[in-house]
This record gives sequence, C-alpha cells and structure tokens, in this order.
Amino acid sequence: MAACRRDHLDDQLPVWFMRQAGRSLPEYRKVRQGVTMLASCAQPDLVTEITLQPVRRYGVDAAILYSDIMVPLKAIDVDLDIVAGTGPVIAHPVRSVGDLAQLRDLEPSDVGYVTEAVQNLVAELGDRPLIGFAGAPFTLASYLVEGGPSKDYAKTKSLMVSEPALWDGLCSRLADIAALFLTIQVQAGARAVQLFDSWAGSLSAADYISYVQPYSARVLDQIGALGVPRIHFGVGTSELLPAMGAAGADVVGVDWRVPLAEASRRIGPSHAVQGNLDPALLTAPWPVLAERVRTVIRSGALAPGHIFNLGHGVPPGTDPEVLARIVDLVHGEGPTLRRQARAAAGVG
Ligand code: CP3
Repeated sequence: MAACRRDHLDDQLPVWFMRQAGRSLPEYRKVRQGVTMLASCAQPDLVTEITLQPVRRYGVDAAILYSDIMVPLKAIDVDLDIVAGTGPVIAHPVRSVGDLAQLRDLEPSDVGYVTEAVQNLVAELGDRPLIGFAGAPFTLASYLVEGGPSKDYAKTKSLMVSEPALWDGLCSRLADIAALFLTIQVQAGARAVQLFDSWAGSLSAADYISYVQPYSARVLDQIGALGVPRIHFGVGTSELLPAMGAAGADVVGVDWRVPLAEASRRIGPSHAVQGNLDPALLTAPWPVLAERVRTVIRSGALAPGHIFNLGHGVPPGTDPEVLARIVDLVHGEGPTLRRQARAAAGVG
C-alpha cells in the first residue's frame, strides 16, 4: 500500500503476480475439477479458496480476487463463455447500435457473490490487502466486437474510427459497468484496484488518446473518490505509458519491454510502477532468472515506488517452485538492492 502511494518503505519491496491463482497451481486444478471457469467465479467459497491459494503458497504481499474481466458482463446476461485454452467467446458480437441493448446497467445484486467473496477474503487476509480488478473499456470492447480473442483487433479498431456514436455508446456503458464492479469490490473491502487494459498496446498513442483514454479515465475518476490506489496495466504499452498514467492511475503496470527506470521517466514522478519480469523467462535456469529479477529490482528502485510483478500473467505451465523462489529473493534481497541502486544513482 505504501509503494502504491510512493511512500516507499526502505526495508520492504512488495511482490504479487498477475494470474497468481490459476492453472500453474495443482491445488487450483484440483478444486476446479468439474466446475467451469465462470461458474467457479460465482461461488464465494471457491473464490475465497482459490484467491488464498497463492497467498498461502508464496507469501505474496497481496491477494488478487479470483474472478475474470468478463464476470460483470456475464452478470448482466451477455451470452458468453470462457473457453479453456481460447479465452472469452461472445455469442452475439456487438456490431451495431441495436446490439448495445445487450449491455444493461450492472446492479450490485447481480454480483452478490462477489461482495460475499470479498468480505470473506478480507476477514481471512488480515493486514494483507486484497486487490480488486476490472477490465478496461477497450479490452472488454475488443472481446464484445470481435466475438472472442483476436490478434489484430481489426473489427474493433475499424468500428472505433468509423462509428463514433456506436463506439461512444459501447465504451460509455463498459466504463460505467467497470466502475461499478470496482466500487462493489472496494465497498466490500478491497484495498486497491487494478484496471486491466491488457490489449490497449495494440493501439497507436494518438488513437489511444482519442478513442480509449477518455473511457478509462471515466472509470478511474469514479474510483478516485473511494480513496484506494488505482493500478492501470496493459501489455505492449511502451508508447502509451504517459497517457495511461494520465488517465488517472496511481500506479502504472509495465510489461517487460521497457526497463522500469525508463518507464518511470516516461510516466513521470507522480506515479509508482509495477512489474516487469518477462514471464517467458520463468523457464530459464535459476541463476540466470535470479539475475533478471535483480535487474528488475535495481531498475524499479529508480521509480518513486515499485511493486514487483511479472510483465504479464503467470503462464499456465509455470513451476510454482520458481515463483516461490522469486518471492523469497524479492523479500530477502530487494530492500538492499533498492537502496544500493538508489544510492548509486544519487536519488532518494
Ligand atoms: O490474477 C489473478 O490471479 C486473478 C484472476 C484473473 C483471471 N482473469 C482468472 C482466470 C484475472 C485478473 C483475470 C483477468 C483477465 N481475464 C484478463 C486481463 C489480464 C490479462 O491476462 O491480461 C483477460 C484478458 C481475461 C480474459 C481471459 N480469461 C483469458 C484471455 C483467459 C485465458 C483463457 C485460457 O484458457 O488460456 C481467461 C480465463 C481465465 N481467467 C483463467 C483464469 C485462472 C484460466 C481458466 C481456467 O482455469 O480454465
């Protein structure tokens, strides 16, 4: 929490992992047997158990709610599924103004199971914060318009630049749904939120600023009033980092493509950073990987606040033992490496 607020404690470097709960954990695969992804997200006891699994195993400094960016859309009865190995699939993609009728307002009673799970979790977690999350309008829109995962987002981008009224209608609704979904989590006890705009990096900075940033800002502004730190993350966002920070985040999540010191220089001194170990390197031999972890820590030390994470989610095939070693390294060596790097650079 201190790192989020750029009030970095000298003797601590916090760490958690995006997708820390999930298929890399045998205990997750066990409890998910016979339950679909979306069904599991609607069972508070299962959500609580799965969210806590990586906390128990790794001693990470935060839990992230086990849910999905598609959960609030499912909750307002959008006909969708999450297909294992593929991702979200939408039965009736949004291609015209008429298709927007699928997107009614989200009501707290649509996701009572989320409130219940968050309340259970907060009671179990004690001092350790729970991070709530939502998908940002562009990333949600990409699934709704494409009908599923995409490599080039051609339908989404084409609609975005050619049908301003439809794009505005779609993203305004998605912004309000995301903001309410986050508000529900914070009111139930989540102490920070992360807005995932995972696929925003497919856009040019100019298009991001014209067509996407206003809607993410609308979400983040609404959350600002709740007083919890807001983390804003996307993949491939090297050119978008300043605009993502300016959308209203306290912390910008950075993928592995830009060193954190350079990312922080781009984002500016009023934001902390989160990241940014390349998840592909989790399969490298430990001495090589450990050196990469240290490099991330030294670079992050030059930002006004750093939360160690991967540059994207934990890949399903990851050996949990490797993540455990990373947590131990970040906690054990992190504070010293940070101090040394800051002293060498003449900061702080
Ligand atoms: O980080 C965590 O541990 C919390 C849980 C979490 C999930 N999804 C659980 C999940 C979070 C934060 C998400 C967010 C999410 N979902 C994003 C943004 C984050 C990112 O990775 O960029 C996106 C794009 C989605 C959409 C989605 N849901 C995808 C692409 C997939 C993977 C499909 C596959 O099988 O490869 C999902 C499914 C999903 N969400 C799983 C988990 C644990 C795997 C489902 C399973 O176990 O069957």
